[in-house]
Amino acid sequence: MAEQQEKRKRVFSAVKPTGNPTLGNYLGPMQHWGGMSDEYDCLFAVADLHALTVAIEPKELKENSLRLFALLVAVGVDPEKAIVFVQSHVPAHSELGWILNNYTMFGEARRMTQFKEKSEKAPENVNVGLFDYPVLMAADILLYKADIVPVGDDQIQHVELCRNIAERFNGRFGNTFTVPEWQTPKSGARIYSLSEPTAKMGKSDGDASGSVFILDPPETIMKKFKRAVTDSEMRVKASEDKPGITNLLNIYAAATKTTVEQAEREFCACDYATFKTRVGEAAVEVLRPVREKYESLRRDDGALASLMNAGAERAKRLAARTMEKVRKRVGLLPL
Ligand code: TYM
Repeated sequence: MAEQQEKRKRVFSAVKPTGNPTLGNYLGPMQHWGGMSDEYDCLFAVADLHALTVAIEPKELKENSLRLFALLVAVGVDPEKAIVFVQSHVPAHSELGWILNNYTMFGEARRMTQFKEKSEKAPENVNVGLFDYPVLMAADILLYKADIVPVGDDQIQHVELCRNIAERFNGRFGNTFTVPEWQTPKSGARIYSLSEPTAKMGKSDGDASGSVFILDPPETIMKKFKRAVTDSEMRVKASEDKPGITNLLNIYAAATKTTVEQAEREFCACDYATFKTRVGEAAVEVLRPVREKYESLRRDDGALASLMNAGAERAKRLAARTMEKVRKRVGLLPL
C-alpha cells in the first residue's frame, strides 16, 4: 500500500464459502465494499477455514471458494485498490487464532448465539472448530489491525468478542492490537427469508425458495419474490407484526438506496402482487451487473488464480508484521 495511504483507516471483512451467497450477503455488507476503497485501506477475504466448521465436501469447498473470490471482484472490489485474498493462503490466521485462544475465556465464547443456533441446526456435528470459530474471526480482524469491520447484524456479537479479546491482550502485554468497530448498513443489515420472514436469509438453507441467490437468473428471482410470504392485510407498511412486508420493504430500500419510509410512500396504494413484483424487479436490477461481471470473470479462472496469489502475498506481508510483534509479546522465541 502506498505510503501516504498508511494513515488511512483500515477495513477488514470476510465471507464464508458455504452454500450459495445470497441477496442478504449482498444488500447487507457486500454491496458497500467496492466503494470503501476510496476512503479506507481495505482487505476482503474468502473465509475458507471457517467453512471447515460445517460438513462440507472438499470439491464443493473448492468451487465455492473460487466462486466467492470471483464474486468479491464482481460486487465491485477492485483488487488493485483493495487486498482480496483467501484466508487459508495466509497461514498467520491459524497461528494467531491459536494464540488468541489462550486469551479468550470459555464462558464468553459459550455465549455466542451463532454457536448455539448452529449446534441446534446440526447436532451431529458440534465440533470444536464451530465453538472456536469466533476466535479465528478475531484473528482475521486483529492480524491486519482493522479499525472498521463492515458486517450484517448477525456478526456484531462476534466483533464484540473480538474487541474483548483485543482489549484483554493489550491490557496484559501492552498496546498490540487495534480495537475494531463494527459497522452495519442503514438498511439491509438483516434480510430475512422470503418464505419464512422471521428467519435470516441464509446461504445454506434447505429451503431455496426463501433465499435469493446473487447468481440466480432473473426468472428465478422473480418467481421467488412472487411467492414471498406476506400477510392477510392489504397494507404496505413496516411493522413488527408484518414481518413479510417489512422484509420486502427493507429489501427494496437497500436495493434502490432509498429508505423504508420512502418505499412505504411509494407503495401505499399498491396491492401485494404488484408490490412483490416491483421488489423482485429491484432485486433483479441490482444483481444483474454483479452476475454479468461474475460470468465474465469465470471465463478465465487462470486470471482469477493470479489475482488470488497477488492478494495473498500482499496480505502475508501485513500479517507478518503483526505476528512478529505478537510472538515477541507473548514470549515465543524469535525465528
Ligand atoms: P457469512 O459468510 O455468514 O456472511 C457474510 C456477511 O454477510 C452478512 N449477512 C447478512 N446480512 C444481511 N442479511 C442477511 N440475511 C445476511 N446473511 C449474512 C454477514 O453478517 C456477514 O457480514 N464469520 C463470517 C465471515 C468472517 C468474517 C471475519 C466477517 C470470517 N472472518 C472477519 C468479518 C470479519 C460469516 O460467516 O459471514
